[in-house]
Amino acid sequence: MTLEEAKAKLKKYGQEHVLQYWDELDEAQRAALLQQIDDTDFSMIHYVHDRDELPPRGKITPLGAMELDEIGARKDQFRKIGLDAIRAGKVGAVLLAGGMGTRLGSDNPKCMFDIGLTRHVYIMQRLIENLMDVVKEAGVPVPLFIMTSEKNNDATVAFMKEHDYFGYDKDKVWFFKQDMAPATDYDGKVYMEAKNRIATSPNGNGGWFLSMNKAGLLDVVHKLGIEWINVFAVDNVLQRIADPVFVGATIDSGCASGAKVVRKVSPDEKVGAMCLEDGRPSIVEYYDMTPELKAEKNEKGDPAYNFGVILNYLFREKDLEKVMNEKLMLHIVEKKIPCLDKNGNFFKPTEPNGYKFEQLVLDMIHELDSCLPFEVRREHEFAPIKNRTGVDSVESARALCEKDGIKL
Ligand code: UTP
Repeated sequence: MTLEEAKAKLKKYGQEHVLQYWDELDEAQRAALLQQIDDTDFSMIHYVHDRDELPPRGKITPLGAMELDEIGARKDQFRKIGLDAIRAGKVGAVLLAGGMGTRLGSDNPKCMFDIGLTRHVYIMQRLIENLMDVVKEAGVPVPLFIMTSEKNNDATVAFMKEHDYFGYDKDKVWFFKQDMAPATDYDGKVYMEAKNRIATSPNGNGGWFLSMNKAGLLDVVHKLGIEWINVFAVDNVLQRIADPVFVGATIDSGCASGAKVVRKVSPDEKVGAMCLEDGRPSIVEYYDMTPELKAEKNEKGDPAYNFGVILNYLFREKDLEKVMNEKLMLHIVEKKIPCLDKNGNFFKPTEPNGYKFEQLVLDMIHELDSCLPFEVRREHEFAPIKNRTGVDSVESARALCEKDGIKL
């Protein structure tokens, strides 16, 4: 891209300030900036001012879950179906590890965080240990695809190598990078993170399938004959991955997807809840729950939106391919964005200072025709680490691990 073309593109999106340090840059820095301007999609930024133009939510109605008693009664049948699929190589797993983990506030990728007390217990190690349980039971490795971002890819890959993949078969592990999106101030002007670099952040976990495709990994998926993909978050250290019972129940249900859910502790708990939206499966975020929805009861007298998602989904791969080019909902999220100040000095804010633009994996459920919400016991399967202390923290996850007999 030439300087003139860059100016025209920036003008179109009201971002001319991106070139404000041009005269101070050397040739290589200028080339890098032009390349980034060329690569960057600024088209979503105007929604900062035009939020009314974002598609409205559809009509929310309840969707029940397969509950623990039914799962308990049919466990052996589901386990057999799941193990058969895993042994036939039909199940793969995708670890979403591209996030910035700003709330945890570590300089390293979240997967490198050590929750051990008397020994090292890295988050990644916990995930691999959990996956190994299934590999041992099935007697075959489960292909594992790890999504990183340009911010944390090198550190993540090096960490896995340094620890010899925590004993996992390294030929069954693939890394791919997700796309980035520009980050802006509250007025929709992109921040600069260096004089020749626009501040960017990973574009949310909803782009994983497109990014996998871009990286050529859908060819690997096809070659291996993977039909089901279990997508999971990096931060839940009690996460069951490629859980044969969940896989078997979803296959048996005939649904195009499955979502692990936990019973909410109260209607106000801050987790997304399974629902139908205009008759299709969906997830209503806690901040979209009206008092009426919170108060609604089902035929058993329980809250109608009683099942919260834990970011562990199973997708039928061929169904994802059909909808992969559909636009997912855009989320404009207030975050702390490291950037240059007015004097051109880099700083890391301690309070949110602008917006990031994200698409979320939970919105993919709505693109598919059907979903099986599958209840799991929170105390055995849900120990997310978002913060250092308090709710969903290193402290709370350690306590849950210890209760589950995991030596820290
Ligand atoms: P979170 O919503 O916790 O976001 O991600 P985060 O960026 O990691 O953390 P904060 O909000 O800055 O503290 C949930 C899961 O989705 C992944 C994360 O790595 C985590 O596994 N994720 C998130 C991505 O893979 N890419 C993203 O762009 C965002």
